[in-house]
Order: sequence, then structure tokens, then C-alpha cells
Amino acid sequence: MLERKAIRRMAALRLLQVAAIALAVVLLWAIFMRVDAGNDAGLPPGEELPDGQAPGVRRQDDGTIKVGLTMDTLQEERWIKDQEMFGEAVKALGAEFIVMTADSDDAKQIEQAETLIGMGVDILVVVPHDAEAAATIVNKAHAAGIKVLSYDRLVRNADVDLYVSFDNERVGELQAEAITKRVPAGKYVYIGGPETDYNAHLVKKGVFNVLQPYIDRGEITIVFDQWTRDWQPANARDNMRIALEANEGRIDAVIAGNDGTAGGAIEALAEWGLAGQVPVAGQDAELAAAQRIVAGTQTMTVYKPIRQLAEVAAELAVKMAKGETPRADRLVNNGKLDVPSVLLTPIAVNADNIDETIIADGFHAREEVYKHIER
Ligand code: GAL
Repeated sequence: MLERKAIRRMAALRLLQVAAIALAVVLLWAIFMRVDAGNDAGLPPGEELPDGQAPGVRRQDDGTIKVGLTMDTLQEERWIKDQEMFGEAVKALGAEFIVMTADSDDAKQIEQAETLIGMGVDILVVVPHDAEAAATIVNKAHAAGIKVLSYDRLVRNADVDLYVSFDNERVGELQAEAITKRVPAGKYVYIGGPETDYNAHLVKKGVFNVLQPYIDRGEITIVFDQWTRDWQPANARDNMRIALEANEGRIDAVIAGNDGTAGGAIEALAEWGLAGQVPVAGQDAELAAAQRIVAGTQTMTVYKPIRQLAEVAAELAVKMAKGETPRADRLVNNGKLDVPSVLLTPIAVNADNIDETIIADGFHAREEVYKHIER
């Protein structure tokens, strides 16, 4: 009997010892984890975040700021310039630049944004493919304590920290002002950008700010009005073919969301022998559009000096990464809040002022623009 009691006491003691060791191990592990994870902001113990530095963001030990850029596409000529010029401007400010391009794939863009967040960027700059779908990116960045700058295109329905772009409504007004000067009455075709791009909505709003009074007076009729999936010139061409068929070629003017879609529309007009007869407006001052303007098949484009946008955005992105709050003199509502915004001024370009605008700025070389013109 006594022996059995002694054995049970021994066993209980052993058990207690094991439990004590296990507890000690757990405690040591917790202390170790705490030390490694550093304080709430993910910094080594005792290190404070610089004023305004968002928690959870790690800076590289040498303090270099990392600017991450997630882009929709490089399909249009301008985005290649944006990527180059923004990258140059960021590096010129002593910051590191990482860019990823999603080829108009929303899931891929979200994944790439997650990668940039995981790489510990200090600020995330976003050119969204889909304004609504990209809200997820903003939420993920904020969850990691990273602020978001919407570049050229606005992310909708999310707490965007800053929007830097051109005044897109003004872009549409410039297009319609130029075309109504040539065609104050008649049948108009509107070839918009994609519904997923909030810029397409802003540009369209600008166009109709100018056209509506003419429409109300019965002078102008919109005989065709269609969005263009992913800004694809071929989609714009196909839409323009439908408009020409439906109106037996009797179209008096075309306003297109950008130069790519204007080029598609002009291709369809050419099939009806109407290229150069029907005034067409575009946007972006692409080289092909500049060549069409001096050749007379496109009436105008809207020039947006990309270097200006890239440099302003880079400067403000680095400021935000340092925890500063950049000055923004405009507000643009994105469905969730009035986003602090910096909107630059677009410029209308036609054959008369093409030399003193896009050529003078070196946006395109003179010999390139006039390449197809016999002089
Ligand atoms: C818009 C942009 C335009 C045009 C278009 C096509 O968002 O504002 O300049 O480039 O995308 O990518």
C-alpha cells in the first residue's frame, strides 16, 4: 500500500516537473518572439517610428525609402513614359523604385500589390485597371500601415490617401470645345474608354458638359455612344463600324476617349472613305495621333505632359512615405470620400499649335511627327 502511494507521489512529481519545463519553454519562446517582432511598429525594441511614420512599415536599415508602383498595363505609349519618368523622379529623390505591371488582369494586380506590400514598400502608388476592384489593394495596404497614392486613375470606394492626375473632366471639355467649333450641329458618335476606368467617366462628363446645351437645342444628336473594353483600338474600330452601318455613313463628328480608340475609329472611317472628312478628337498626344493630326485625318488630341505628372507624383509619394501630409488643392469624390487631389492642366493640340506644344516639349521629335508628310 505504502509503496503504491510512493509510486503515485513520484509520478505526480514527475508530471509536475514536466509541466514546469513545458511552461518555461513556452515562456522563453514568447519572450523570444516578442524581442524578435520588436514593438508594435515592427521595429527593434526601443526604436520609435519617426514622426508620422505609419506603424507596421519597416524601413530599410539604411533609411532608404521604397516606393512601390503597381500599373494596369503598358499597352498605351504613355504608360511606358510614365513608368520611366516616375522611376527616374523617385530615384532622383534618393528613394528606391519597384514596379509591377498587371496586363489588365485584376487578380494579378491585387497579387502584385500584395507582393509589393510584403516587400515592405513605404508607399504604394497605384494605376488601377479596374477602379472598383482596386479598392482591395487600398485596404490591404492600409492594413499593413502603408499609404496609397492613386496615379492618374482614381481608385473608387476606398480610403485613397492622395490622387495625382490631370483634370480629366477638363480633358473632355477641351475635346468637345475643339469639335463643336468645327461641327456646331450634326450627328455625333461618342467612343468612350472602358467603364472600369474612372477617368473614362470623368472625361465623358467633361465632353457632355460642353455638348449638352447643343443637344438640348436640338443642334447636335448623339447617334452612337459606347464604352470601349480595355481601351482596345480594335474594339473602338468595331464600334465605329456599327455606328457607320447604322447611320449609312452619315456621321458628322467623333469624340474618342483617347488616341488609341480615335485611331480605331479613323480606321473604320477610312473604310467608308471618310478619314479626314469627319473631325475626330483623341487624348494622350501619341506619336501616331500627332502624325494623323499633321496629315489631317485626326483633328486634335489632348496633351498631358507626363514628366510633370511623374515628377509631382514622385515628390508627393516620397513626402507621404516620410510621414508628411502633402498639400492638395483639389478634392475628387471617389464614392467613399473626397480624396485630396492634385490635378494638372491638360493642353488641347491641333495642327496649328503642335510645334509649340508637344514638339517644343520634346514629347515627340519633329521629324517623327512629320515623317509621313511630303514637304
Ligand atoms: C486613362 C488615361 C488616358 C489613357 C487611357 C488609356 O486612364 O487617363 O490618358 O491613356 O487611360 O490607357
